[in-house]
Amino acid sequence: MLTTKFPKDFIWGSATSSYQIEGAYNEDGKGESIWDRFCHTPGKIQDGGTGDVACDHYHRYKEDVGLMKEIGMHSYRYSISWPRIFPEGKGKHNEKGLDFYKRLTHELLENGIKPAVTLYHWELPQILQDRGGWANRDTTDYFADYAGFIFEKLGDLIPFWITHNEPWVTAFLGHMTGDHAPGIKDLKTTLEVSHNVLLSHGKALNVYRQINLPGKIGIAPNFSTKYPASNKQEDILASELSDGVLNKWFIYPLFKGEYPKDVIKFYSDKGIPFDFPHEDMKIISKPMDFLAINYYTSEFIKHHPVNGFEGVNDQYDQFEKTDMDWIIYPKGLYDLLLRLDNDCNKIDLIISENGAAFVDKIDENGKINDVKRMNYIKDHLIEASNAIEKGVNLKGYYLWSLMDNFEWSYGYTKKFGLIHVDNISQKRTIKNSGYLYKDIIKNNGF
Ligand code: BGC
Repeated sequence: MLTTKFPKDFIWGSATSSYQIEGAYNEDGKGESIWDRFCHTPGKIQDGGTGDVACDHYHRYKEDVGLMKEIGMHSYRYSISWPRIFPEGKGKHNEKGLDFYKRLTHELLENGIKPAVTLYHWELPQILQDRGGWANRDTTDYFADYAGFIFEKLGDLIPFWITHNEPWVTAFLGHMTGDHAPGIKDLKTTLEVSHNVLLSHGKALNVYRQINLPGKIGIAPNFSTKYPASNKQEDILASELSDGVLNKWFIYPLFKGEYPKDVIKFYSDKGIPFDFPHEDMKIISKPMDFLAINYYTSEFIKHHPVNGFEGVNDQYDQFEKTDMDWIIYPKGLYDLLLRLDNDCNKIDLIISENGAAFVDKIDENGKINDVKRMNYIKDHLIEASNAIEKGVNLKGYYLWSLMDNFEWSYGYTKKFGLIHVDNISQKRTIKNSGYLYKDIIKNNGF
């Protein structure tokens, strides 16, 4: 008897991104990306790792699609590396780079797996960064041109498109904390970048609507549910502000055509007035077909006299944490789904990422019994199913990640995969979580 069931056409998939798995960083005419530059700069990545080889997916994609098929996945979310297609960021395209994505897409289709393509999972061509990157408004047009080119070449084959993966991460980790490429630390630049990324999403969406294609298009912000750490008024307000900075900062422009006023005030109080041409908001808020959600964790928030708010998850020991030190809080996913259903006019939702890093052990029989990851998956799916029962239009779930891969500034120290990858031999081994996922897909529940 299944206790957790999903609707008949529910889409089950897994996700990756190009830089994290492909390798072949300078092969077949690929241009340099900001992540190539960042990883080749000593001291930026925890273990000194790079995506130069990664999982060598560029050469092993057939084997990887075979593994997806074995697990029974309906769909696969992957990203396209912009500098593989346009080594100079714009202008003349690189046919060999395009060929790789054609081969991969056909391989998926021949195996009955629906492609879900992300156009930007953080790989800006370095040459565009040299001209100001996302802080330069021209980049929004180059992105729309790149998107239009891909729509034209692959558009009839792709049912799902995601313009941007996690605009907050592009802007804030890339330009405020500097933990991600291009490693800038400047709040004013961060806000410009955040706006331009959304604008480029709107421009790409416009291009998509002008071509008559069969697929659906959306964007994938990272969300985290924020809870006040106490019922003190100052903590409640701090939690709302923190929600504004991460969640509303994207939901409002995309769905209401305006930025949240309290967050604008928060930044202007810090001496960073936020200004931009107001006609941009019409472009940014053009209706999408679905909203994709990346959800991993939630956060408890307290008032902070200088910063306005602070996350205090560290002060709780009742929550289990993943190897990223993120608390495991499945109820946060349920609350998020209901909230987005309400705030985004009952738009179709897709969970485009959810998953957990844990330290895995290979036993003497070569098996990986990753029980914690299995529990994480089931507990989050229970909440997803509860949300569907409440009427949320959740259409699919993509697990992060298909396989262990390059985890950005953490290098190869964090493992999220359903499939273990030996970084030396490149041998792939399906973990028990992968077999669990296979059963869940087969039974459409558990
Ligand atoms: C990103 C992935 C990343 C994952 C785990 C998301 O922020 O889209 O690229 O590997 O979370 O950190």
